[in-house]
Amino acid sequence: MNSPVMQGLNLQAPAFVKNAKLIAWVADMVALCKPERVYWCDGSQEEYDRLCQLLVDAGTFKKLNPAKRPNSYLAWSDPTDVARVEDRTFICSRNKDDAGPTNNWVAPDEMRATLQPLFDGCMKGRTMYVVPFSMGPLGSPIAHIGIELSDSPYVAVNMRIMTRMGKAVYDVLGVDGEFVPCVHTVGAPLKAGEKDQTSWPCNKTKYIVHYPETREIWSYGSGYGGNALLGKKCFALRIASNMGRDEGWLAEHMLILGVTKPDGKKYHVAAAFPSACGKTNFAMLVPPEGFEGWKVTTIGDDIAWIKPGADGKLYAINPEAGYFGVAPGTNTLTNPNCMASLDKDVIFTNVALTDDGDVWWEGMSDAPAHCIDWQGKDWTPQIAKETGAKAAHPNARFTVAATNNPALDDAWDDPKGVAIDAFVFGGRRSNTVPLVSEGRNWTEGVYMAATMGSETTAAIVGQVGVVRRDPFAMLAFAGYNMSDYFQHWLDLGKKLEAKGAKLPKIFTTNWFRKGPDGKFVWPGYGENMRVLKWMIDRIEGKVPGTQHAFGISPSYGEVNWKGLDFTATQFEQVTSIDREAWAKELQLHEELFQQLATRLPAELKRTKAQIEQRLG
Ligand code: GTP
Ligand code: SPV
Ligand code: MN
Repeated sequence: MNSPVMQGLNLQAPAFVKNAKLIAWVADMVALCKPERVYWCDGSQEEYDRLCQLLVDAGTFKKLNPAKRPNSYLAWSDPTDVARVEDRTFICSRNKDDAGPTNNWVAPDEMRATLQPLFDGCMKGRTMYVVPFSMGPLGSPIAHIGIELSDSPYVAVNMRIMTRMGKAVYDVLGVDGEFVPCVHTVGAPLKAGEKDQTSWPCNKTKYIVHYPETREIWSYGSGYGGNALLGKKCFALRIASNMGRDEGWLAEHMLILGVTKPDGKKYHVAAAFPSACGKTNFAMLVPPEGFEGWKVTTIGDDIAWIKPGADGKLYAINPEAGYFGVAPGTNTLTNPNCMASLDKDVIFTNVALTDDGDVWWEGMSDAPAHCIDWQGKDWTPQIAKETGAKAAHPNARFTVAATNNPALDDAWDDPKGVAIDAFVFGGRRSNTVPLVSEGRNWTEGVYMAATMGSETTAAIVGQVGVVRRDPFAMLAFAGYNMSDYFQHWLDLGKKLEAKGAKLPKIFTTNWFRKGPDGKFVWPGYGENMRVLKWMIDRIEGKVPGTQHAFGISPSYGEVNWKGLDFTATQFEQVTSIDREAWAKELQLHEELFQQLATRLPAELKRTKAQIEQRLG
């Protein structure tokens, strides 16, 4: 602690911090960002409550009615800072080809030169929070530590819910442990004596930057979600995918669920759906009528770290400790477990405030006669009808601890992880892609995942509803060349097969086919259990399925329809394979393959040729 800045401000690291590299790095970052104070988070409840109160005093948080929603808060962001900014997200590898054609790339030296003046003095007048966190159970051999320096107390309290955050991380880190340095600023320095004019400071200039070789994260200008909670997409996906490639494991945009049959046999499924395409819902699924004795339990809802075990099986853990989930569309019918998770101890962002001090969002329940919308304006059903105004932003979210989830799996924080029996890849498609199909082998499964298309959602700043390729639901999260990532998946399959292991089956799903009336044909949500059971029947070899050009799908009679009135005609609407639509679809696969040509695995090109042949 001997840099002049640190001395001048008397910014001594507390005694429980013993890691020399960490202390030196914080000193450097203080010298660069020039905060008014440094605060070392200990992760205690007392600290959480104190920071929440500070956010209430600053106007960033509203405390919700404790009788309705105990210990819960509501934040409204700046209307320009509401989702991830993919066009401002950069993978700055030394070599451009290592980032690949699907990532924004700038040479590391050039990016450092750009960021230097932006970060210089960026925290003036603010507190720098030192947020120590573990992705994965503390001290476990599969976990990795990060330290986020942020000038946002909103980030500090969210990180306490989303990760294992606090003092114990320093014990694990010891004097010479490794950590991923993550620097975050809202990019809104204050002049001497100046007070915030806004309750959500941010900057219209935004940079979400990753240096994969040196495993660093630098985030500038946004306070929202994946842009700012750096343990999530930046670390657990973009940086961790690089670690996984180097060390032989996978970091994936996947939920992990356990499904227990009436006979007691339990399976584990990891499913990758793009942002706002149903992971949280699937992970918390409540089996419907007709599935008495079945149970679904949640291990994770957004990210999976998957490592091969000595037995050749793939073991998955959820590196997170909480859920940052989509609120709109969530209700006691679509996701009762999620609604129960939100009873208390929640941070809501960008939902509406009701007149009795509770929250509301589109699709939660009948609309209130009046509420205050996420932009602080009066909202009534009449105003909505006239202007189309939404009470909640479509990407409004809740932050809540996993331990609030009544369907939490007993093994959710077991450092060993759970053995995966099936992978599922599911896009959001109004047409073309059938409800479910199974790849006949690992390569065919990898092909379908690699070429997956999905309609864009409000989780990303930009146009909603545009079909784009989203390989493995990782378009925005693979921290290296997408072709190399495909190769990594192919190689892993080969490696496990060589060990004599039975590989997990790979399925693709689409809950979102629409009928001529523009409405979803498939009822979705809990009813997705019917598809999940068919997958298990396939694993157990109980049903033959029907072969088609790119895999195997169920016949109508293979699905348990007890308790649901869903006709063979409706089933045809969600499973039919239209040759012309598929010819067009394969054209889009071809465009992706052209884009990725330089390093594209030949095996995937061969698989495509085979599918084309079968389609005739
Ligand atoms: P991220 O947190 O952005 O990664 O999203 P997610 O994949 O966890 O999505 P989530 O489960 O939060 O669902 C997003 C939206 O899709 C919500 O509005 C849900 O109501 C809706 N949704 C989820 N599952 C289904 C389904 O089976 N059918 C239909 N029609 N909508 C669904
Ligand atoms: C997603 O966009 O896939 C999310 C939300 O899970 S965020 O944390 O903002 O990335
Ligand atoms: Mn996500």
